[in-house]
Amino acid sequence: MTETLLVAYPWVKALHVIAVISWMAGLLYLPRLFVYHCEAPVGSAQSETFKVMEDKLSRLIMRPAMIATLVFGLVLIAIPGTPGHFVHAGSWLWLKLLLVAGLLVAHLFMTRWRDDFANDRNQRPPRFFRIMNEVPTLLMVGIVLCVIVKPF
Ligand code: HEM
Repeated sequence: MTETLLVAYPWVKALHVIAVISWMAGLLYLPRLFVYHCEAPVGSAQSETFKVMEDKLSRLIMRPAMIATLVFGLVLIAIPGTPGHFVHAGSWLWLKLLLVAGLLVAHLFMTRWRDDFANDRNQRPPRFFRIMNEVPTLLMVGIVLCVIVKPF
């Protein structure tokens, strides 16, 4: 059983990284769409196009990719005899999970802002979304350093 899990480990890790890349693509692109959407007048054809783009990105890419990232990540920490097994991993794993929680919060807020745009009730300026664009970037840098460098 353990041997089968160890054979599966690199495959699960590959699927985890594929899901991470897809989720991050959405977390980085959606706030950029919000920046441009702020400049499109309510009811304009441009605004309606942004609504469709935001909805498709959020529902068809970001949500499934987020779920896949978490599921494959949780499988990885459960496989004994690997560097990321939750019993033996260093503090890097717990810091990483804290930063992942930050990404989840960012995702939830972005879903809320997408709903605001979908209902033509966004009040936030483009500058707000420009700043928010940096949050997933900073969290991702911290997560990758934790998991690759494993500093502690
Ligand atoms: C519940 C959430 C997550 C859990 C439990 C988790 C757990 C893990 C584990 C155990 C590994 C294997 C570590 C190793 O073999 O050294 C791993 C690999 C990795 N994780 Fe996650 N992860 C999660 C979310 C994320 C997120 C959100 C990102 C990026 C934004 C991410 C990026 C990576 C990367 C890049 C690797 C590959 C590292 C390597 O090359 O060994 N993970 N993850």
